[in-house]
Amino acid sequence: MHPPLPDGFLFGASTSAHQTEGNNVASDWWAFENAPGSPVTEPSGDACDSFLRWREDMDLLRSLGFNSYRFSVEWARVEPVRGRLSHSAVAHYVDMVEHARRIGLEPVVTLHHFTHPLWFMRDGGWLADDAIDRFVRYLDAVSPVIDAGARTVVTINEPNILSVMHAIVRGDAALEGGLLGGIPAPHRATAERLADAHHVAVDHLRRRHPGVRTGWTVANQAVQSAPGGGAVADDYRYTREDWFLEHSRDDDFVGVQSYTRTVMGPDGIVPAADDAELTLTGWEYYPAALEEAVRHTATVAPGLPIIVTENGAAVADDERRIDYTRHALRGLAEAMADGVDVRGYLHWSALDNYEWGRYAPTFGLIAVDRTTFVRTPKPSAFWLGDLARRGILITDHQESANQEHA
Ligand code: BGC
Repeated sequence: MHPPLPDGFLFGASTSAHQTEGNNVASDWWAFENAPGSPVTEPSGDACDSFLRWREDMDLLRSLGFNSYRFSVEWARVEPVRGRLSHSAVAHYVDMVEHARRIGLEPVVTLHHFTHPLWFMRDGGWLADDAIDRFVRYLDAVSPVIDAGARTVVTINEPNILSVMHAIVRGDAALEGGLLGGIPAPHRATAERLADAHHVAVDHLRRRHPGVRTGWTVANQAVQSAPGGGAVADDYRYTREDWFLEHSRDDDFVGVQSYTRTVMGPDGIVPAADDAELTLTGWEYYPAALEEAVRHTATVAPGLPIIVTENGAAVADDERRIDYTRHALRGLAEAMADGVDVRGYLHWSALDNYEWGRYAPTFGLIAVDRTTFVRTPKPSAFWLGDLARRGILITDHQESANQEHA
């Protein structure tokens, strides 16, 4: 028998601005997607039209039973031109936070989720001398959003991935074959700068918004070593993950984001077995990753509360999403029963959204028609929302099946 979920447990789903809002035209990613010869095959375009339909998204999540929603504020909308703030964009995000609170969805607000204003990137991105000052000015600009009632704030999403993407979008590196070959080593100078920016942001937020809990989120790789792969696995895990987790030790929480595992042999990544099930991103279908991720995080940052800020699978067959999530939650419950301090579970993703270059990998609990933008919750949305409403992580298969077909 597992203990009840802790009070205030966040049970919901996540999105990010660029992946859902649509027409994020002042951002570096928009320019990257639409540049002649771009390696991106499908631009984000209207995305899920959530810049207009966010209320509907929130109301739907709440009606499904969730009590929390993670979304991000888009710096490129708040400051589309260097030094010129859009008060209307700030008011938009204030409305989002207020509405979330009003309907009983605890907002988890990410201040930076992969994209930058184009001007910021053109001025050198995170490697510019004044990058951190610019970020702090942006934090000042969005303080009304936090004051509107955002009590859980993520400074930077996945710095371990961002430091790679930043180099790609700047044109310093290419990413052949996506992330199947594992994460390239983070660009060291960028990673250092992101860590500095994060620490400055945490101090700033604590000073200006006492009572807000803040941290960053780390893409967890659930690194395992195949025979002979111990040292290679240790190095891979440290540079791509633990270094970033160490930088979270003085925060109020760390966000764990987990999808699959990475197996390392003496010569590097060991591909999944030929008969392994793969998801639409090409990653191994491996729901046990979440339990490994939270247990590992708790060893690197002992005592630090964990929020699962992303977990899910891009699958066409929604039954597989339910199966994946059921196993992931069971593992999460086991880790919690063993004392790992987990304060929330936010599924990736609320919606079928823009998966950084294409729409085909569908992570959503809710389908989105690509031209009418009509939202259709999938069986997984009803199933997971029901667990959220009941405040439990585990159901047996039969009970879940009944729910799905109720
Ligand atoms: C990111 C999301 C992304 C998801 C699935 C995470 O790396 O934060 O933006 O869509 O994983 O790839």
